[in-house]
Amino acid sequence: MASTTCLTLPSGKRMPQLGLGTWLSPDGLVQEAIKVAIDNGYRHIDCAYFYGNEGPIGEGLEKVLKEGRVKREDLFIVSKLWNSYHAPEDVKPACMETLRLLRLDYLNLYLMHSPMGIKNVKGDLLPQKDGKVLHSDVDYMDTWKAMEKLVDEGLVKSIGVANFNQCQLERLLSEARIKPDVCQLERHIYQTQKKMIAFVKSKGMAFTGYSPLTSPKRPFPPGKLDPKNGMEDPVVKEIAKKHGKSPAQILIRFNIQAGIATIPKSETPAHIIENSKVFDFCLTDDEVKKLESLHCGARAVAWDIVGMGEHKYYPFKTQ
Ligand SMILES: NC(=O)c1ccc[n+]([C@@H]2O[C@H](COP(=O)([O-])OP(=O)(O)OC[C@H]3O[C@@H](n4cnc5c(N)ncnc54)[C@H](OP(=O)(O)O)[C@@H]3O)[C@@H](O)[C@H]2O)c1
Repeated sequence: MASTTCLTLPSGKRMPQLGLGTWLSPDGLVQEAIKVAIDNGYRHIDCAYFYGNEGPIGEGLEKVLKEGRVKREDLFIVSKLWNSYHAPEDVKPACMETLRLLRLDYLNLYLMHSPMGIKNVKGDLLPQKDGKVLHSDVDYMDTWKAMEKLVDEGLVKSIGVANFNQCQLERLLSEARIKPDVCQLERHIYQTQKKMIAFVKSKGMAFTGYSPLTSPKRPFPPGKLDPKNGMEDPVVKEIAKKHGKSPAQILIRFNIQAGIATIPKSETPAHIIENSKVFDFCLTDDEVKKLESLHCGARAVAWDIVGMGEHKYYPFKTQ
């Protein structure tokens, strides 16, 4: 069973280190994934409006709560404000829609999915012209101020950001009335985020590492942004063999031992259970060093597709 180890957030709330990722979890399987996860000790579920599956996740959550498998106060439910709802007047309606879909009356954590606003065109989440997403230039500080009001109104307990770089986070920290509790970024053996993890921790915030298994089924074309599948890496396989663990467990443990939260996605019950068994062994310092040496700056999730790389607030140039 997954451990209940938690990170303490600047607001005093506690975030379980291990969470279930839900990006690309299909409608027909995600309810069962939620049930298996809850029954195996997961208490943190990472969702996003953009993933298009908050409705079925809400059905799954309602079921486990009604069946008494877990209490709402023991869950840590995260969602993300999508880029097309950055205009301050769109923030509360977007949050309310996520709450409706998830069948909840509050979120534990609401993240700005990225600092990059895009135009809100009739509910199209990636409105494009000539193959390029239509950017908006809404300042993410204005979006943040609207997110602060969600905390005031009790709709969300904590707010945070994803896919921000250090400069953007520094600006947010200096101007925000309510400081961000969490920064969520891609983190795995090929993108170790040493500098950002140190920075985020130095500010007392918690770091959540996404794509811990290197996101092997991401729907982006292979190319220079396409890292290898970390679960196939010979270094990972060798360490896994030594511990009698699977490569996935080594990759998850690599994040847990860095003192961050991590959110491996799985729709496969056996994987969900396997991924929870990461609290009964420790990687040695040498093993951690070996895994860190695989860093090559690769990003599994290519935010620079469809022209986002030219966005005024594109975060990854100066990281
Ligand atoms: N903030 C952001 O911008 C952002 C971006 C990307 C991701 N995220 C979050 O982070 C979560 C995780 O990242 P991710 O979905 O990109 O990728 P990931 O968790 O690194 O990898 C998921 C893949 O690994 C497979 N897998 C899981 N456990 C396994 C096991 N034990 N053995 C073998 N294969 C296994 C899954 O297949 P099965 O499903 O068949 O197990 C799936 O194909 C997302 O779901 C999402 O919640 C956030």
